[in-house]
Amino acid sequence: SAEIPPGPLNDTSAKLVNDKNHPWKPAGPHDIRGPCPGLNTLASHGWLPRNGIATPGQIVTAAQNGFNMGNDLAIFVTYAAFLVDGNLVTNLLSIGGKSSLTGLDPPAPAIVGGLNTHAVFEGDASTTRADAFFGDNHSFNETLFQEFTSFSNRFGGGKYNLSVAAEFRFQRIQDSIATNPQFSFISPRYFTAYAESVFPVAFFIDGRKSDGQLDLDVARGFFQNSRMPDGFFRSNVSTGINEIGNGIGEIFTPHPIQPGENHGINNYTLNPNSADFSNLCKLYTDFVNNTVVSLYSKPKGTLLTALKRNLHFFYSPFQGSECPEVFPYGK
Ligand code: HEM
Ligand code: MG
Repeated sequence: SAEIPPGPLNDTSAKLVNDKNHPWKPAGPHDIRGPCPGLNTLASHGWLPRNGIATPGQIVTAAQNGFNMGNDLAIFVTYAAFLVDGNLVTNLLSIGGKSSLTGLDPPAPAIVGGLNTHAVFEGDASTTRADAFFGDNHSFNETLFQEFTSFSNRFGGGKYNLSVAAEFRFQRIQDSIATNPQFSFISPRYFTAYAESVFPVAFFIDGRKSDGQLDLDVARGFFQNSRMPDGFFRSNVSTGINEIGNGIGEIFTPHPIQPGENHGINNYTLNPNSADFSNLCKLYTDFVNNTVVSLYSKPKGTLLTALKRNLHFFYSPFQGSECPEVFPYGK
């Protein structure tokens, strides 16, 4: 189970990724899919194991090869999700619901519930998935996709782009404030909500085109059917943390919302303890010291070894920055 995170691609040019070795096949009855259309699509094209159970290394490699995600971003999101949703000892993660295929569970309060697990990584105000409060936080939701469509028509001339993303991100937040009494919009979800609104522009547009305009039928293919268009080329630029940060800036600036949570519907209360865009280091340190430590308080043996190892991998995009590594379990 010991592996080190894959390095960056040597060749980051656009290339055919819906190729003869990676044909779309519908998920079988035992194949797991979840809240992330990117990973669902990689699994349905065989860039990831089609059963939806993968190692973090496989996920980093697939996100880079299949979509040209930058190495720092792929490592950061993959190891974040793996630390809270995966089995650290067997090195396996379900991209959807909890599965016995990830192996024997460590003791509670560890969850090892896969990406569907609410509030450790998955969160509210998603683009095409409903809030967990309403019962299903992972399936494609046609009503939300109709809103996505109508916003793309109103603000993007029939395409999804960053201007549409700014409006729709704000609308999804307002919708949760108005309808979900338990709406939570604090770190890490605060960050991933803005990031996921940029992802379709960064990754779902054919790399020979890259005009920042996503066709709605292509969008539906990814979001609903986990399917790349025929002949799809991955992006011709590698999108890492800096590039996603630039996209987030364009989405955030027109309608800035600070981190907070509802105390009953229409009662959004700011949470000054949450990390925000002015403090990325706090995103990292709080995720480690609060989110991960709440699941693993006194780990021992192989679990302890794996936790320390994977926490270090999660830190690696911050290596050499002003943000010091934290060691809740010792060095
Ligand atoms: C959403 C995980 C890579 C596109 C999500 C969510 C998770 C997740 C847990 C649910 C968040 C929520 O909405 O509550 C990951 C992990 C990745 C990864 C661990 C590792 C590399 C990608 C890639 C793409 C992508 C490469 C695009 C090609 C998206 C989009 C959403 C999303 C568009 C929003 C879905 C929606 O709400 O409709 N991801 N993801 N992700 N992800 Fe990923
Ligand atoms: Mg969600």
